[in-house]
Amino acid sequence: MSRRLDKMVVKSALYMSGDIDPSVPRPPPSKAESAGRHYLMAEDPRLKPMPKAPTLIDFFRYRFGPAAHLLQSARLALKNGLDEKVVLACLLHDIAVFGLIRADHGYWGAQLIEPYVDEEVSWAVRAHQALRFYPDASVGYEYPEAYLRMFGSDYAPDPYIDAEYQRARDHRWYMTARLVTLNDLYAFEPGVVVDIEDFTDIIGRNFKQPKEGLGMDNTSASHMWRTIIAPTKFL
Ligand SMILES: [Fe+2]
Ligand SMILES: [Fe+2]
Repeated sequence: MSRRLDKMVVKSALYMSGDIDPSVPRPPPSKAESAGRHYLMAEDPRLKPMPKAPTLIDFFRYRFGPAAHLLQSARLALKNGLDEKVVLACLLHDIAVFGLIRADHGYWGAQLIEPYVDEEVSWAVRAHQALRFYPDASVGYEYPEAYLRMFGSDYAPDPYIDAEYQRARDHRWYMTARLVTLNDLYAFEPGVVVDIEDFTDIIGRNFKQPKEGLGMDNTSASHMWRTIIAPTKFL
């Protein structure tokens, strides 16, 4: 099972907190384990290599997978005749869950895409984090039944989520984020196969792909894309 790698791979505290107690010192690798080996300072050899100048579609192929939930949500938005900005927001709304960090995923996802999309798109991705917990009868959005199963009937959002909801409700782009929650499929639809290539044109028109590749382009989010490329890099 534990194939011995050339390099030593150490997971970030973030991936392990809970399984381990980060307040307790971790023992360094044993002499036998570290003899003649260095720490990994590159992409993890267990992952598929990414192209030198990766595109958003490459991330879907090699790091965000399988992202059927995102593809199906975007497909539904397209089928519902929604604006391309909404389709893109649906396609990207949970990329943090699929490729980076689950907790506060709307915020992480918005930050990842901020330099590359219209402000309205990243705003909607951020706001869906809160809006999905609150019904809106005017558009037929109910509290997702799946959440009752997933979080229990006594779950209530944290106060910061409630405050975010209150702010979003009065925002001029409220409906964009609301449409993300409306097209967010809470159930996996078996048999509906959607390919990321189906969205090539919409991505091309609405996502400013840097020619150097995501992660190599010196924006405020480049380091986050690089971490997705090489999540076990030692430093
Ligand atoms: Fe989400
Ligand atoms: Fe979602």
